[in-house]
Amino acid sequence: MDIQIITGDITSLDVDAIVNAANPTLLGGGGVDGAIHRAAGPRLLQACRAIPEVSPGVRCPTREARITLGFDLPAQYVIHTVGPVWNGGGSREPDLLARCYRQSMTLAMEYDLASIAFPAISCGVYGYPPEQASRVAVRSLLDTPNGGPERVLICCFSDAMADIWRNALNDEA
Ligand code: APR
Repeated sequence: MDIQIITGDITSLDVDAIVNAANPTLLGGGGVDGAIHRAAGPRLLQACRAIPEVSPGVRCPTREARITLGFDLPAQYVIHTVGPVWNGGGSREPDLLARCYRQSMTLAMEYDLASIAFPAISCGVYGYPPEQASRVAVRSLLDTPNGGPERVLICCFSDAMADIWRNALNDEA
């Protein structure tokens, strides 16, 4: 597996799947969720609405992932995952965040995808400190069993964020 840290807009990437940092409703939001829905077009929201609720208003519980087509995006698929809201670190946040990356990679494996791009899940609205989130994420990706996507991109929205993730990758790899 080759993990690359890049800076850019994840909606522009021509990879098999981009990962969306969604919320449990899967009905869109701000941040990268809003950007992906804008770029994918209205069919993405229709596809998300078609995903069955597992409890009232919840289509994807925190730590799980769901997959849809990418519609107007260059990416063929969108893998929607819901990261933990940072609550100080004592509410299983690291485990829940690690599962987001693992579940996304499992879905990518099931769909036999060769490339996948992740945003910095939970590092925006959900307030997860990037220095900690990046180490959890890289560790989780490096522990992925063989057979998943060979090309893994972490698409950061700023150079400062990319530097944090590069440090994590250098320390964990
Ligand atoms: N491309 C790549 N990264 C992006 C983009 C983009 N177009 N837009 C934002 N980001 C970055 C943010 O700068 C942040 O580093 O994605 C990271 C995740 O931030 P959020 O999008 O706020 O996601 P998160 O912290 O997981 O919060 C999820 O926000 O948008 C809502 O519906 C979403 O309720 C959910 C919550």
